Amino acid sequence: MPAEITLGSPLIRLDHIDSTNAYAMSIIKKREAGEGTVILADFQTGGRGQKGNVWESQKGMNLTFSVILFPEFLEAGKQFYLLMSTSLGMIDLLKQAGIKAMIKWPNDICVSGKKISGILIENSLKGAYISSSIVGIGLNVNQTHYVTPGIMPTSVKLETGREMNCDILFSETLRHLTIWIRKLYRNEWPAIREKYLQHLWQYHKWSDYADSTGSFRGRITDILEGGELVIEKQNGIYEKYLFKEIEYGS
Ligand code: BTN
Repeated sequence: MPAEITLGSPLIRLDHIDSTNAYAMSIIKKREAGEGTVILADFQTGGRGQKGNVWESQKGMNLTFSVILFPEFLEAGKQFYLLMSTSLGMIDLLKQAGIKAMIKWPNDICVSGKKISGILIENSLKGAYISSSIVGIGLNVNQTHYVTPGIMPTSVKLETGREMNCDILFSETLRHLTIWIRKLYRNEWPAIREKYLQHLWQYHKWSDYADSTGSFRGRITDILEGGELVIEKQNGIYEKYLFKEIEYGS
């Protein structure tokens, strides 16, 4: 049986960099990256978030890192499973820290509606399969003031009232992520999907949403294989949405 993947071996620690995801891409292109390589930076000068946003993180206060994977067995149509597995690693890590977090579809990790961790996955494809993945993760740890408008952030310290040792938290994060990425590599699809749905914020709850037709009440009923969100509207019609096609109401 082949050895199972372990994240963080090797570990590249950087004092500062523009973006750990960009650094990961550069070493993949130079063929200098092995599977499981992790790049951890104390500070990012151009940390990237979803939808072209910046990722705010004060120097040395939080975890900002990227994991390099080569999941060549993973069909492009199943890439959402990598996102689910990563989210679940972060959920388990936060649970261990005494924080009950939920996943706001597709992959915001939130506590009572406030974002504590963000995930930015950049996949390269070869035909119908993934050739490489960069899993970029930001976890707010000891930062307590944020300036970026438009997001409601929180951090481990804000939730627990305790300052955390970032090095210890980081090795625990890699441990939890390794557990879930191994499940992905073992093709444990139902286990991943079920746990994701158990931690999906607003699952089956009537709530406010907005799509291109305007605001409406609805409830999440399912997630499709490709990651699309299925919502039942109050008029009984089921709609499916891709990322960016729907917004959550307040
Ligand atoms: C989001 O907007 O929710 C995704 C945020 C992802 C931030 C992390 S920090 C480490 C890695 N490097 C980046 O430039 N972005 C990701």
